[in-house]
Amino acid sequence: MMRFSKKLELIPPYLFAEIEWKLDQKKQEGIDVISFGIGDPDMPTPRFILEAMWEASEDPSNHQYPSYFGMKSFREEIAEWMYSRFQVALDPQTEVIPLIGSKEGIAHIAFSAMDPGDVALVPEPCYPVYATSTILAGGDVEYLPLSTENGFLPRFEDIPAEAAGKAKILWLNYPNNPTGAVVDIGFFEEAVRFGADNDIIVANDNAYSEITYDGYVAPSILQVEGAKDNAIEFFSLSKSYNMSGWRVGFACGNSEIIKALGTIKTNIDSGIFNPIQVASIRALEQGDLILEEIRAAYRRRRDNLAEALRGLGWNVMKPKGAIYLWLPVPEGFDSAGFSNEVLEKADVFFTPGNGYGPSGEGYVRLSLTVPDIRIEEAIERLKEVF
Ligand SMILES: Cc1ncc(COP(=O)(O)O)c(C=O)c1O
Repeated sequence: MMRFSKKLELIPPYLFAEIEWKLDQKKQEGIDVISFGIGDPDMPTPRFILEAMWEASEDPSNHQYPSYFGMKSFREEIAEWMYSRFQVALDPQTEVIPLIGSKEGIAHIAFSAMDPGDVALVPEPCYPVYATSTILAGGDVEYLPLSTENGFLPRFEDIPAEAAGKAKILWLNYPNNPTGAVVDIGFFEEAVRFGADNDIIVANDNAYSEITYDGYVAPSILQVEGAKDNAIEFFSLSKSYNMSGWRVGFACGNSEIIKALGTIKTNIDSGIFNPIQVASIRALEQGDLILEEIRAAYRRRRDNLAEALRGLGWNVMKPKGAIYLWLPVPEGFDSAGFSNEVLEKADVFFTPGNGYGPSGEGYVRLSLTVPDIRIEEAIERLKEVF
């Protein structure tokens, strides 16, 4: 009998791979499900970004292996963007690294930071990769439960001293998936101080930095004085510029952490197709042209959907950031039960909140990556049943 790594038995199947399978089954049965499942932008990549990609594809030198560390021009553009967006000054050579989507870097950093017995502090509910990559790297996860009582922010004073002592990394993700919570710079100051006091890497996943509403502007953890001593931040082009399929993002911050991540990456991947990097430069340079439109689309969907759900008697908050509604399930249901009820009765899919960690029990997540006309249709279906 073939045998595989014991680590594989420790991680659950990837949440969205399971969901894709479930929804495929429905499709096979000829059922038209409106899915608020995966957070994958439905709007197309803007044309000026495609044009940069086409132009760069004509150059045969771009058909060879790319640089392990990303194109110099892309690293320089990232540094410029970080400066103009956050007034954070970075050395493009040592403090920036392009990624094959931020997921890739988030997963690989565990392999550069963790040894068996080391702990990652992971607020939950959360994007599942912080915990699963820790486990695959041989580390242990100490969950920090998030709830409405703490505004979906971890309380550093509640972290057990033993876990803090063994911890190598603290994960943060604001604007937050799945809860939609946002923070101000004061929270990041506390996090950086906690990291410094305990010799811990502080990693903020800022995948939704540009997708915010109602006048809220997301900060960077690197704006905190001294953050470059122990912090790293992950950014993604997926949500900001409708580029999820392109697989591109970047990390920046402390040069030793960037170097350690680079060491793992050079041994596993061989960089990003150059034309994608050229297109990403264009996206960062000119992205402001379309960001307002993208934010307006999500804001409109958020408002329409939230108001309709409230009309059904469901108590949902309007988030100031990210692209999700985090809905407490009605009395008498758990996450899976409610998700199933909605799917079976209305052919509408909400992701069960417990897929994001134990504290997600009692919630479902709705992604706003659904066209307005389908949202209207989903609202009609829900009104008929509930
Ligand atoms: C919080 C969070 N981080 C990271 C990612 C991964 O994004 P990317 O497409 O850059 O790999 C996602 C994707 O949904 C996310 O929600």
